Amino acid sequence: MEMKIRTYGDPVLRKKSEKIDDINEELLELIEYMKKTMYSASGIGLAAPQVGINKRLFIIDIGEGIKTIINPEFIESNSSIIEMEEGCLSIPGTYKKVKRPEKVTVKYLNEKGEEIIEEADGIYARALQHENDHLDGIMFVDRLSTVGKKLVSKKLDAIKKETLKNL
Ligand code: NI
Repeated sequence: MEMKIRTYGDPVLRKKSEKIDDINEELLELIEYMKKTMYSASGIGLAAPQVGINKRLFIIDIGEGIKTIINPEFIESNSSIIEMEEGCLSIPGTYKKVKRPEKVTVKYLNEKGEEIIEEADGIYARALQHENDHLDGIMFVDRLSTVGKKLVSKKLDAIKKETLKNL
């Protein structure tokens, strides 16, 4: 089953998601649906709130296989800040450079419930931070400069209008 991808303006994208305390059949089914949905939309990442579920879960595939990330926590690390272009399935057709730490260390559970600690850089580090933001109701356009925000404001207004019409 493919799920509907929620778009900018949908209140579900602005809620803080809840920690998952049981990796059960229902959750594994949701993960399968999310994978189908992400691949069908040609995305490299998808967070549960983007399909209307406010749970701390996302998936990433940057071309190195699928990763399921449950209850992620970022461990403080010193890293330089770099700019990289980002897009989001919930904000179709909008790509902008965003500043974020280049490297991150993340602790999470995979879908087998195993605890994983990973150091990441490059596109993977970027995707981890972008998707994690979704769990806190933050979208990448929130992280743009004042000028950057101005440049996307019309587009965002248009997407929001369409979203609210179809809610
Ligand atoms: Ni996104």
